[in-house]
Amino acid sequence: MTRFDRIEALDDLRANVAVPFRRARAMPRSVYTSPEFMALEIERIFAREWLCAGRASALAAPGDYLTMEIAGYPIIVLRDREGGLRALSNVCLHRMSTLLEGQGHIRAISCPYHAWSYNLDGSLRGAPGMAANEDFCKADYRLPAFRCEEWLGWIMVTVNPDAPPVAEQLSELGSLVKHYGMENYVESFRETLTWNTNWKVLAENFMESYHVPVCHNGTIGPQVSLDEVECVPGTATFNYHCALKSEDQYLALAHPSNTRLSGDDRRRTYIISVYPGLFISLSPGYFWYLSLYPRAPGEVDVIYGGGLAPEFMEDPDAPMHFAALKALIDEVNAEDKGCTERVFKGLMGAVAGSGHLSHLELPNYEFAQYILSKVDA
Ligand code: FES
Ligand SMILES: [Fe+2]
Repeated sequence: MTRFDRIEALDDLRANVAVPFRRARAMPRSVYTSPEFMALEIERIFAREWLCAGRASALAAPGDYLTMEIAGYPIIVLRDREGGLRALSNVCLHRMSTLLEGQGHIRAISCPYHAWSYNLDGSLRGAPGMAANEDFCKADYRLPAFRCEEWLGWIMVTVNPDAPPVAEQLSELGSLVKHYGMENYVESFRETLTWNTNWKVLAENFMESYHVPVCHNGTIGPQVSLDEVECVPGTATFNYHCALKSEDQYLALAHPSNTRLSGDDRRRTYIISVYPGLFISLSPGYFWYLSLYPRAPGEVDVIYGGGLAPEFMEDPDAPMHFAALKALIDEVNAEDKGCTERVFKGLMGAVAGSGHLSHLELPNYEFAQYILSKVDA
């Protein structure tokens, strides 16, 4: 028996997921509110899966770094002297202070406590005042490394030494969007936010367009016809749906110099959910994304970034269009924040159980299956 065997939320989810889609209901409220279920998710999902630290272009030069925390491990992701990406432990090997915060640029990693310093490959570079200790040997010290891979321009990190490579896990997705050339999209903004909702509420909000006409009636809602939403079955590692954009949305359409896309693909947006925490809206002209990490049942950290397809980087009209687009996506996100935070308030106070799912919520059903397959392993 493990310490998770008696979690009621797990039983609730097992029962929920056993129902076929044509009769399915949303996930039970306990899986969103239970601290024990969150501990299970951290141990069996976030400590085992690949998580996204943003775009590789954000770490362009040797010494560029960002920090993150996965399942209790403080981590530095950096560009090393040879131009590779590395994920290193962000804990000093002397008396265990954390080393770096936020993001920035460094020549070496210097501890803010007693100034032990580390090279960009994690080896110890200097340790002042240590010569008198007979057993101290600089060469014995190296910051532990975690796995870090670049996939289509995304920085992916895992603390699981046995996770299959990202490209292997996401090979189907790679083929599906190959002609978009996502690896060449250029990030132009990256922000970090905290939303007061459960991470799954935010994830599920991204993966269905059912809410768009209503939750977004002040912005994009009126342009979206639910009849034009293409809902297709996903896989064990991701789900997606597509929307066809109208001809008046400059950046949503392929640039005239883009010869990779043809037919309806020139106006097709892919709305992709990479389990567990990376959510990408990929259009022929631009992209934006959310990368999630839960802090508590009702609190989720979000990396929010995006930018343009390479063809638009040369277009003199693109900055003006992108400024307008960024303002619009900000508003859309503010609407989503309102909707998802209201859901969490409702979940905390609810006396009713979860309701039935629409046919437009197939990705949500698949996501519930995914969650159970991981936490019940
Ligand atoms: S804890 Fe880092 S140098 Fe002492
Ligand atoms: Fe939304």
